[in-house]
Amino acid sequence: MKIFKTVAETQAACRLLRREGKRLGLVPTMGALHAGHLALVRAARAQSDVAAASIFVNPLQFGPNEDFQRYPRSFDRDLQLLQEEGTELVFAPTVEEMFPPPAGAPPGSSSATSRTGTFVEVSGLAEKLEGKSRPGHFRGVTTVVNKLFHILDPAVAFFGQKDAQQTVLIRRMVRDLNLPVEVIVCPTVREPDGLAMSSRNAYLDPPHRQAAMVLYRALMRVQALAGAGQHDAPALAAVGRETIRQEPLGRLDYLEIVHPETLDPLSDISGGALVVVAAYFGNTRLIDNVMLK
Ligand code: PAJ
Repeated sequence: MKIFKTVAETQAACRLLRREGKRLGLVPTMGALHAGHLALVRAARAQSDVAAASIFVNPLQFGPNEDFQRYPRSFDRDLQLLQEEGTELVFAPTVEEMFPPPAGAPPGSSSATSRTGTFVEVSGLAEKLEGKSRPGHFRGVTTVVNKLFHILDPAVAFFGQKDAQQTVLIRRMVRDLNLPVEVIVCPTVREPDGLAMSSRNAYLDPPHRQAAMVLYRALMRVQALAGAGQHDAPALAAVGRETIRQEPLGRLDYLEIVHPETLDPLSDISGGALVVVAAYFGNTRLIDNVMLK
């Protein structure tokens, strides 16, 4: 497994692979890897010639009061897991490498946000749902994913359904900018009790970890009612919200039933719908979702 820390050597290696006719499959991550990430790596191995992963905790997608500094980091373990899964190439830049300070600026004098004047913004989708609670988050995501696509030039990139809105924005960015990348979305990997795997689950103490199960319970209740013939989206959403509110250690941010592509609220789920939920357990904000077919 080759580990690259600089843009230049990564670009050179990936260009060579492309010239050899090899299809690179990229799994962008922020590290603190778990089984959800590794499922993406397995998909990349199965569906491309060279499986690559990036590890970069992207400061651009964290708000000023969010957890950038304390986001879990486990670089050595991540590399071991990637190696075990047969990853061939890892791109793990520093913040300075991805967002070099302006020429002449003393080191540490500028934040990452001020180090790039260019952003990729999927307007119309970035402001909704997660974007409402986390202004600027998706601009940070789409900007860095765009950079990763330019650096590694993947033929195919893999994302998790766990971050449903992220996948909708990335697909839209790829379409709008004609990026030569195929986007593949893989199913959400869950703990045995249904909690979606997330690097942020590590923040939960045992009582909040127990309480967080309510997210999946609420989604399953909505799905069961929909399966039993309830197609009224506001009525279904009300049941989902009530389920979350019954958990004393949880604090609902939003639960919405939306169109899977426009992310607009639906009145009826008959044409397919996405149920998205975000809630706090203590200081930890978790998200989850499920598709209604
Ligand atoms: P991160 O949260 O590390 O997630 C990396 C990828 O793993 C994302 O595509 C995410 O949807 C997927 N993933 C996370 N948990 C999952 C689960 N339980 N099941 C399946 N897939 C899961 O998402 C990001 O990083 C960043 O926003 C990134 C795209 C890397 C840009 O910085």
